[in-house]
Amino acid sequence: MERFNIELDKDTRKKLDDVLQPIILRDNTVERIMSIFSKHMELANSPDENHRQKSDLLMGNSFIRELLDGTEQGDFLGLDLGGTNFRVVKVSFKDGQAETTTRYYTLLESVLCGPVAGVFDFIAESLADFVGRYSLNNLGKKVPLGFTFSFPSSQVSINQSVILHWTKTLRCPDGIGDDPVALLEAAIARKAKDLPVDIVAVMSDTVSTLMAGNYLDQNCRIGLILGTGCNAAFVEHISEIDKWTGDDKDPQHVIVNVELGSFGDSGCLDEFRTDYERELDKYSNHPSSFTFEKSCAGMYLGEFVRLILTRLIREGVLFNGTGEKLLEGRWKFTTSHVTDIESDQGTSTTKTMEVLEKFDLATIATAKDVAIVREVAEVASRRGAHWIATLMAVLVNHIALPDVTIAIDGSLFERHPKYHNSMMEILNKFCPKSKVKLILAKDGSGQGGAFGAISALRQAARDLR
Ligand code: GLC
Repeated sequence: MERFNIELDKDTRKKLDDVLQPIILRDNTVERIMSIFSKHMELANSPDENHRQKSDLLMGNSFIRELLDGTEQGDFLGLDLGGTNFRVVKVSFKDGQAETTTRYYTLLESVLCGPVAGVFDFIAESLADFVGRYSLNNLGKKVPLGFTFSFPSSQVSINQSVILHWTKTLRCPDGIGDDPVALLEAAIARKAKDLPVDIVAVMSDTVSTLMAGNYLDQNCRIGLILGTGCNAAFVEHISEIDKWTGDDKDPQHVIVNVELGSFGDSGCLDEFRTDYERELDKYSNHPSSFTFEKSCAGMYLGEFVRLILTRLIREGVLFNGTGEKLLEGRWKFTTSHVTDIESDQGTSTTKTMEVLEKFDLATIATAKDVAIVREVAEVASRRGAHWIATLMAVLVNHIALPDVTIAIDGSLFERHPKYHNSMMEILNKFCPKSKVKLILAKDGSGQGGAFGAISALRQAARDLR
């Protein structure tokens, strides 16, 4: 096979194939993963606690049942605490149009691994800065706020939940079992007393992305995050939820947060995992958890590629067996390096060379090395896209509508030039009854937080009727 216009000698081709072929997801593997995932969805839905405990998934009730309908008016705030950035978003509705203002605040590494109160103090201070900057304290009323809290939590009501674990970049020694809304209210009382905001909803970023996506496209039934972490939510009919204990008033649907990053934590994916995934898990922030997320999210793809490259260096296939910075740079090869490499088109190698330069490899890299690096980035990225699309295929088939749009937020999907098409390869093949569309809901998780606030107010009004 000739790739990137470089023909590799037979011996190199064979060694490269020996490394790359096992990471390609074959159709029968996709089918098997789909069936295991469906089983875990069923178990998580069971009214029987013993069955639920056997599932790797949360399938949590988000308590959000109302999507936007175009009649919204006024100002709403969204807060978005994800993996790396924290953002505050204001959405102002005027004459059916939503105007969004976003401001990013960077969380320091020391805050991310310090006591949880420090994280929430930072959020309260940033929120106070935003409120001051955009004169929201002169409105004479409290602004409704939806809090997008992107860590596994068990929702108790629309504005109360319980933190289950830390994932991704957060490593606080405490906070598990706490309610993020109560933590935020306490931080506001400490740092920004009398801030005119009313926290009316707390939700996963997948839920807020779904809401933002549905605002863009009414066929949107799934919200997916492909950023630092990965997870999805979908619109479910309440009659399909065996464990449902809520009321059965209209609307008859609710958004369900799958928490699919932890799929595989029971060991059910072990036979499909590679040594690279096992090694990156061992050195990750949260070893032996969030197995699935480590196979496709932005926090891990770069390291996955680096581990393959280091194996090829050790086998003498790449860079004449050298490359100290790459060999020793655990977590230094990031997903944005992978997306840069993947941005080189045709015979162009500019971006790949820029990345190699950062690892002192540009001067020694031959045309053959560059072609191999590009092929590794391509095959590894395609594997990640196929993994996540496999689970999306199960959700699409479960929703069973002729047109299903998946709204996606997150830097991996936004910046990777080939993720969309690679995901579609699986969706086209394994969702024969639905026309699937993938749309980017840029900053949807923040904007959707504000939409969640609207939904909460509508539901409160409905409950009074
Ligand atoms: C992690 C979190 C999950 C979140 C996802 C995307 O998987 O556990 O709650 O939705 O990242 O940010």
